Amino acid sequence: MLQLVSPERLSEGLLDWFDRWRRDLPWRRSEDPYEILVAEVMLQQTRGEVVASRYPGFLETFPTLDALAGAAVEQVEAAWSGLGYYRRARNLHRAARVLARRTELPGSAAEWSELPGVGPYTSAMLASRLDGECVPVLDGNVERVLSRFLASSLPPGRAEARRNLLATAARLLDPERPGDSNQALMEVGSLVCRRQRPNCGACPLSPGCAAFSTAGLDPRDYPARPRRRARETVHCFTAVVRRDVGLLLHRRPGDAEWLAGRWHLPTVELGRGDESAGEAATLLGEAFGGDWKCEDGAVVRHAITYRDFFVRVAVAHWRPGPGLEAPGPGSAGGELGWFAPEEIDELPTSSLLRKSLASIPIHSGP
Ligand code: ADE
Repeated sequence: MLQLVSPERLSEGLLDWFDRWRRDLPWRRSEDPYEILVAEVMLQQTRGEVVASRYPGFLETFPTLDALAGAAVEQVEAAWSGLGYYRRARNLHRAARVLARRTELPGSAAEWSELPGVGPYTSAMLASRLDGECVPVLDGNVERVLSRFLASSLPPGRAEARRNLLATAARLLDPERPGDSNQALMEVGSLVCRRQRPNCGACPLSPGCAAFSTAGLDPRDYPARPRRRARETVHCFTAVVRRDVGLLLHRRPGDAEWLAGRWHLPTVELGRGDESAGEAATLLGEAFGGDWKCEDGAVVRHAITYRDFFVRVAVAHWRPGPGLEAPGPGSAGGELGWFAPEEIDELPTSSLLRKSLASIPIHSGP
């Protein structure tokens, strides 16, 4: 392998490249914090070309922070038309109202991120451009550029990969112009380090790029794709216990393998799925305590990520054991409670719960 040039030594060349080749995009012409805030919010989920076509019109309608803050939210939504994700328009409007009441703008990523609709990505972009703060930014383009630069075998969605990519992005920042460094990396991703046809000969980062410089590697093989998990089949038995106080639900523990932290009907995993209702009752007793009697139920099929569930949903009768009048689950962990139908609508549940209940005849049960 050739000796790779360190990121720090490439940061100046990256900025030289940006100064020479950057596209003349409307949000790059401005130094005005309000105009940059508007652009960065628009760029959160909308492609640059679309933003370029809508941004000037929006600024004509609302040329200043005070104009935006003084407008009705419906006017702001109307001016946002064509950009989609209208929640951003409403948040931007709220942010403008917060800022209009203040005498000073935020001065760091931490302060920008206190505004409605400004997450870690946008606050880093704003602080690096407006405050000269050295905070790196990762978007899809930058992830691709840096995954190739490091020849990273980890998919960028993994926490460890993100840490490595962010550390490399930080090393590429020029402390005098961090905002331009961030934008330069994005621009390299858009213009040179393209997904299909990377133009490595024109890339300012190629002297340090492992995927380019290492014999046998191909930049197009990066970023690494997440490995598809093999699908798993899960057989379960789900008990529908009704009393006049409502339906018995179980809040699954926060570390449960599926539906963690959700309220669900008391459910036990089976082995092969052909266990009898009596065997299911024994398993329910071990998991939740007390005495169980189960009827035979219909099978509901459901998929959650890579798991295929075959769930037998059955009406059941439960007598909490001694000392269990205030119900508390046994080995299942979590929490048990009785809920009326309208209360269930307010709980974090799942489509598997809705499907399971729909499979039970309404008038069955105690
Ligand atoms: N995406 C988000 N902010 C951007 C910017 N300033 N330039 C290019 N793409 C962006």
